[in-house]
Amino acid sequence: MKKEFKFSYHHLASVKELNEDQKKTLEAAEQATLNAYAPYSKFKVGAALLLNDDTIVIGSNQENKAYPTGLCAERVALFSYGAQQNKQGIKMIAITCEGDLLKEGDVFSPCGGCRQAMAEFTEMQEQAFEIILKNGDGSILVFEGVHQLLPFIFGSK
Ligand code: THU
Repeated sequence: MKKEFKFSYHHLASVKELNEDQKKTLEAAEQATLNAYAPYSKFKVGAALLLNDDTIVIGSNQENKAYPTGLCAERVALFSYGAQQNKQGIKMIAITCEGDLLKEGDVFSPCGGCRQAMAEFTEMQEQAFEIILKNGDGSILVFEGVHQLLPFIFGSK
């Protein structure tokens, strides 16, 4: 039996179409990009989580001479949140990047490992959180939850 998996997402022409929460989270991600440590790939990534109490937790990719030791921006932000005592719940994550690794027209979207990490945080809080991505052309992708980026998630119900 052939089955289909379908999902929808929002493709917005620019930041102007975002709501205030989304805008401020994206701005925080762009700021976070400045803190990236990416001397090897020269590809800087910033991530920001907006929590339910309106606080923001940022992350940026942190590379290392021993390459696999480095960590993506999304996981730096998520694990930093995870390490906090008071977990308010994640409302959304915004992710931005800067660098030549992606060519014009390429879509910027989180790596598989970061999707898996997002899946676990979603499961922990039993509530999906939005994922906002900014492309090189300034357009924005908004996903309602990680289930749209990672079907058949390992360990999903
Ligand atoms: N990177 C992220 O921070 N997030 C992703 O989702 C994909 C890749 C980082 C890892 C590495 O420091 C650099 O981008 C190049 O892959």
